[in-house]
Amino acid sequence: MHKRLVIGNWKMQLTPPESAVLARAVVHEAAGLADTVQVVLCPSFTSLDCVSASLAGSSLALGAQDVFPAAKGPFTGMIGFDELRALGVSYLLLGHSERRRVLGETDEEIGKKFHGAIAAGCVPVLCVGETAAERAAGRREFVLERQLGILAGLSDVSLKELCIAYEPVWAISTSGSGIVCSPKEAALVHQWIREAVMRLVGAVWTGERIAVLYGGSVDEKNAGAFASEKAINGALVGGASLRKESFLAIATAFAEAASRKVPALS
Ligand code: PGA
Repeated sequence: MHKRLVIGNWKMQLTPPESAVLARAVVHEAAGLADTVQVVLCPSFTSLDCVSASLAGSSLALGAQDVFPAAKGPFTGMIGFDELRALGVSYLLLGHSERRRVLGETDEEIGKKFHGAIAAGCVPVLCVGETAAERAAGRREFVLERQLGILAGLSDVSLKELCIAYEPVWAISTSGSGIVCSPKEAALVHQWIREAVMRLVGAVWTGERIAVLYGGSVDEKNAGAFASEKAINGALVGGASLRKESFLAIATAFAEAASRKVPALS
């Protein structure tokens, strides 16, 4: 059985002391889920150090929300792979829609980060997803195909796990749309993504698994329904990851689905 993956994306919401308190609380209560769920916390850069200390000796993993695509160098204001690895970062969120939309991040830039992350020994979590307008215009697959296109150069890498997070922009809690993606719709898109990824990397893929996570307004009430879909291998959680109770309830829902042996496709 592959473990489910539940990632908390804390965005720019917590100070370092607040992050340390939340991390310690999550570590304490998530200990019993370690066999079925890999929990990952992604604080902001300024909190990586204290969250790393809070996670020491636990089964939880540390992730960063972005990276500059270089190991080190004269790049004022940037954070590179060496610094992140030294802090214990093993997962990297890449191409989040807020970065694409607010900062104009391009597929080309995301591609550099993606391939750099693999070279640095991190698991890249590539975020993809269409806007409401793109969905309404029937362009979802076209957009996803373009965003996934950065995988095309993947070859000869010792990457154990490839992780894609499907986050329809219109379903993210802060998007203002008020619309939630149904687990059935998400599952259909996940299946499409898995097939697209296999088309792109199937010939060279030697890793253990391709995990497709869902993100967008996942909370303690709907997590069970997402977790029950076999095409959904985990969740990328924003708002609900900022409260210990809701985040743990989501992780528990995925743990229960894993132990009911809802088969995770891999
Ligand atoms: P949300 O955010 O869970 O608050 O919708 C998800 C994300 O932006 O990663």
